[in-house]
Amino acid sequence: MKTIARRLLPTDLKKTIRTLFSKFDSLLLGILSKPLFLAHPGLSNSLYRLFNGKFNREQQAVLAGRLAYIANTGVGENSSALLRRNTHRLEKGLSMQPRREVFAEEFIVETANCFSQCVTADRICEQELKWAEDVLNSYFSSVTHTANIAEAYGIFSQACQSGESVCEQLSVPYEYQELTKSEIDTDAFTALCKQRRAVRWFTNQQIADADINRAIEIASLAPSACNRQPFEFYVANDRELAPSIAKFAGGTSGFVDNIPCTIVVVGDLSAYPAERDRHVIYIDGSLAAMQLMLALETMGLSSCPINWPDLDVPEQKMAKRLGLKAYERPIMLIAVGYAAPEGMIPFSQKKRAGVLRKDI
Ligand SMILES: Cc1cc2nc3c(=O)[nH]c(=O)nc-3n(C[C@H](O)[C@H](O)[C@H](O)COP(=O)(O)O)c2cc1C
Repeated sequence: MKTIARRLLPTDLKKTIRTLFSKFDSLLLGILSKPLFLAHPGLSNSLYRLFNGKFNREQQAVLAGRLAYIANTGVGENSSALLRRNTHRLEKGLSMQPRREVFAEEFIVETANCFSQCVTADRICEQELKWAEDVLNSYFSSVTHTANIAEAYGIFSQACQSGESVCEQLSVPYEYQELTKSEIDTDAFTALCKQRRAVRWFTNQQIADADINRAIEIASLAPSACNRQPFEFYVANDRELAPSIAKFAGGTSGFVDNIPCTIVVVGDLSAYPAERDRHVIYIDGSLAAMQLMLALETMGLSSCPINWPDLDVPEQKMAKRLGLKAYERPIMLIAVGYAAPEGMIPFSQKKRAGVLRKDI
């Protein structure tokens, strides 16, 4: 309806309508800032929602995510958010100082059942299953078997019979001193961060898919809440395709046609049973995206993060083009390519520590 109106109405009328909406919005905000509404957030929320549906999409996506989580009991297409979260919780318990003789009693049966379901489903990534199996084995051999734990062990042992180990090395907690240390020093890292600039002008050089995959592998090393990693990278590594995807985001006009590769970072809200975690896809997705961009720099590739606005039309177009489910949301786009040597880069002054830091 809105799209048809946008196409048919004369420009002047559209401008007048926009001005009226904007005035009404200011009026509404003025009313809601009155002490009566400030003292009653429920009342102000209801009134706001009556006239402004801009949060609806987010709310629907969160609800669709919760429903999908419940319907699938936390087990997704090739990964289980529940198994990942609980395996992570077990690893924390195993790493605790001092380690307790009994822990995780409240969720160990759930974890064993989820593991069993994942083994039976036969579509969960094998490294994920191995991690869960190794950690569960380590857990069961470390704790005292109370009734709950014994029940969980029974479920786990039965499920394990059908599983085979992916590799010999165990995916279990280890001591910090065993960690392989990087040789990058602060100066080298600073130089890499200075080298990464938002680049909008690229050469025609084709990007090897293997480089994109490598950067994604590096991005996947980023931290994420409970190690769920609730995101995917949709890649359009094609001169014609990349601009057509990047066009859905408003902030690419003027340079979109020379983008050789577009990556859409998509968050999965079906990783959460509760609303309280609705923001986590944006945090986890962005941390991984940052790592992806730095990884690209080390391969001689440049990038430009692109904002994804929460607007009806772009959301619908992107969801249709990528075949996204109701609970999958674009987080941001990233334009990738080899920088054109003479292409201009904004100076982009950065805030200094003295401005950013507030001592507590
Ligand atoms: C979340 C996010 C959204 C952005 N959206 C756009 C965009 O839509 N169009 C664009 O040209 N640049 C976009 N940028 C790039 C910023 O303008 C750029 O990062 C910023 O000016 C700082 O410059 P630098 O990246 O070179 O340090 C975005 C950056 C971020 C982090």
